Amino acid sequence: MILAIESSCDDSSIAVMDIKTKKLLFHKKVSQELEHSKYGGVVPELASRLHAEALPKILEETKDFFPKLKAVAVTNAPGLSVTLQEGVIMAKALSISLKLPLIGVNHLIGHIYSLFIEKEEIKPMMVLLVSGGHTKILNFNGIKNVCEIATTLDDSFGESFDKVAKMLGLGYPGGPVIEKLALKGECIVGLPLPLKNSSDIKFSYSGIKNAVRLAIEEKRYKKEDIAASFQKKAIQHLIFMAKRAVKKYKPKHFAIVGGASANLALRKEFEKLSDEFHFKLYYPEMKYTSDNAAMIARAGVEMYNQKMFTDYKNLKIMPRVEFNKC
Ligand code: KG4
Ligand code: ZN
Repeated sequence: MILAIESSCDDSSIAVMDIKTKKLLFHKKVSQELEHSKYGGVVPELASRLHAEALPKILEETKDFFPKLKAVAVTNAPGLSVTLQEGVIMAKALSISLKLPLIGVNHLIGHIYSLFIEKEEIKPMMVLLVSGGHTKILNFNGIKNVCEIATTLDDSFGESFDKVAKMLGLGYPGGPVIEKLALKGECIVGLPLPLKNSSDIKFSYSGIKNAVRLAIEEKRYKKEDIAASFQKKAIQHLIFMAKRAVKKYKPKHFAIVGGASANLALRKEFEKLSDEFHFKLYYPEMKYTSDNAAMIARAGVEMYNQKMFTDYKNLKIMPRVEFNKC
């Protein structure tokens, strides 16, 4: 069995997975959303303190598995350094005391493996990652073979939902509240489609966000109309760039992962794209779209099988990581 720890942002989570069958034997997550909500975003120092409280309590529940563990996997990149540290320190302590090899998992690759919890890998696959920290189109062809087709020049998709929600006084995280409010609104606020005149495949969300700020300042529109117009444009931009990537790389399998892959309006638009371009579309199960240790355990199993271990003295926290370009 493998034990995995996730603490890259505001979720403290631990999972235990059977290496051979990939069956999830234990999974628990304590979310800090409520604590951060009043600040309109994650406060790193507070997040770190809450991880230090939650992680040992969850770990206590996994003690019976300790004699059967073969490795400890932990998210060591990318994320907030003060929160990554909480998980990494715990993983190092476990590795030393239980004499187990240590596996450092890239959180973004973890999101890809959220598709394969209790399942086999599907590859090659084009993956759209839409989370709070990242908006990327990746090409996945196994744990050692992930390259980047596109990324964002500024804000990420999820982050733009968080910022718009903050401007509208709706709390954190913004994605689910904006999605709910948008159902009651009309798309009557004129917003720009980013980078429509560039021929590259890349994302930018700062322009839409600023246009929303100006629309709020005009005090002419209802919150629900702003939410509906913003969400529509944000998704339209994803589709616009994903279409370019699909035309260029012609994938047979296409997945959407990350916290924002829970958005049903987004899923609906990608279903239309899948019909048009004849690729098979995949999402993680709803409970694995946001940050969790089950996906870290699943990626950890793959790394264990390929002996991708790191000595506890050498396992470093990397708040930022770059992928090779495809
Ligand atoms: O993957 P995740 O849990 O954490 C990171 O790795 O960042 O993603 C969290 C992000 C937040 O920005 C949140 O607002 C966004 O995902 N999100 C959504 C929805 N649910 C969560 N964005 C749009 N629509 C949603 N339904
Ligand atoms: Zn994430």
